[in-house]
Amino acid sequence: MSSAINAVIAILEKYPEEPLPAALVAVGIAVVSKFAIGFLCALYRYLLRPSLDLTKFGKYAVVTGATDGIGRAYAVALSKRGMSLILISRTEARLKAVADEIDSSSAKTRYIVCDYSNFDGAARRRVMEGLDGLDIGILINNVGVSYRYPMYYHELSDTEVGDIVGMNVNSTVHMTKMIIDGMASRRRGTIVNVSSGSAGHTMPLLAEYGAAKMFVERFSSSLDAEYRGRGVRVQCQIPFYVATKLAKLRKSLTVPTADEYARMGVRWLGYGGVVQPYWLHGFQGWVMSCLPSFILERGVMSMHDGIRRRGIKKDAKLAAGGGKKAE
Ligand SMILES: NC(=O)c1ccc[n+]([C@@H]2O[C@H](COP(=O)([O-])OP(=O)(O)OC[C@H]3O[C@@H](n4cnc5c(N)ncnc54)[C@H](OP(=O)(O)O)[C@@H]3O)[C@@H](O)[C@H]2O)c1
Repeated sequence: MSSAINAVIAILEKYPEEPLPAALVAVGIAVVSKFAIGFLCALYRYLLRPSLDLTKFGKYAVVTGATDGIGRAYAVALSKRGMSLILISRTEARLKAVADEIDSSSAKTRYIVCDYSNFDGAARRRVMEGLDGLDIGILINNVGVSYRYPMYYHELSDTEVGDIVGMNVNSTVHMTKMIIDGMASRRRGTIVNVSSGSAGHTMPLLAEYGAAKMFVERFSSSLDAEYRGRGVRVQCQIPFYVATKLAKLRKSLTVPTADEYARMGVRWLGYGGVVQPYWLHGFQGWVMSCLPSFILERGVMSMHDGIRRRGIKKDAKLAAGGGKKAE
């Protein structure tokens, strides 16, 4: 970048009597260099950078929200990369099924039952006992919940308001606190906190979810700067839509399956930064960052309003038929 700035200064000095054309050329060079450097960095990260030997971080990987979606897919991908697993979720039967699927002997895979919507002192102690003395090299803070569908903030129930912070923020900060000390004392380890594309922009009708995920993003980048010198990398991954129960979407070009997402995600482990491992999500993020915020806000509001109306209709239909509300 400094060579681009030097080139700009040189042009301006060479043509002092024609400042406007010289300035335009200079700005053009600066813009093209910025894009070119960004493009080359992205090419390297997505295609050429080697994935790390994950076992060097430690024996165990802990995955929260590990019985479905991205968490389950991460657990499977990590086991294929030689990690022993500790799966955490709230439903024991589903934990057992995933543990059995990953490791039929169940010798390497353990699980801990925990409901993160009530992660109080007693629940945290139970998790700590389950993790005590283990050489944990990787923590994937994946568990999280969004709105049932986009809605105005006053339409959320008190439980939903509490759960969004509890599941996305409290789970992340407390799990990190439990594990990062051991990683720092061994001087090896890596933590991935799963945020969301909703974090980076103003999110009408998903206000609390977007803000909670923004917290996750800033918490991760600050911790990474804090612990990098102690051998621990903290990375924030930002998925856009992934075809899971939470997203209620089918797979498409821009919506990978959880397995596709996790396969790409593990290649980024150990590097730190705020990243989008699925390259089309990276491209979407770049396009969104180029749009003026007033256009983006209006577009998001109108898209979310459409989804809200469909959600309300579905709730009404289910209520009329005696069914339960859309989840
Ligand atoms: N899918 C997307 O499009 C998308 C986009 C951006 C960000 N994300 C983020 O990615 C992460 C994973 O999302 P996902 O789509 O994979 O979700 P998902 O398919 O709904 O899976 C959620 C997982 O969390 C567990 N879980 C739910 N409530 C829990 C609770 N109270 N206590 C403990 N575990 C609980 C579930 O286990 P049980 O039900 O078995 O208990 C399941 O294993 C979340 O942080 C989400 O915000 C997802």
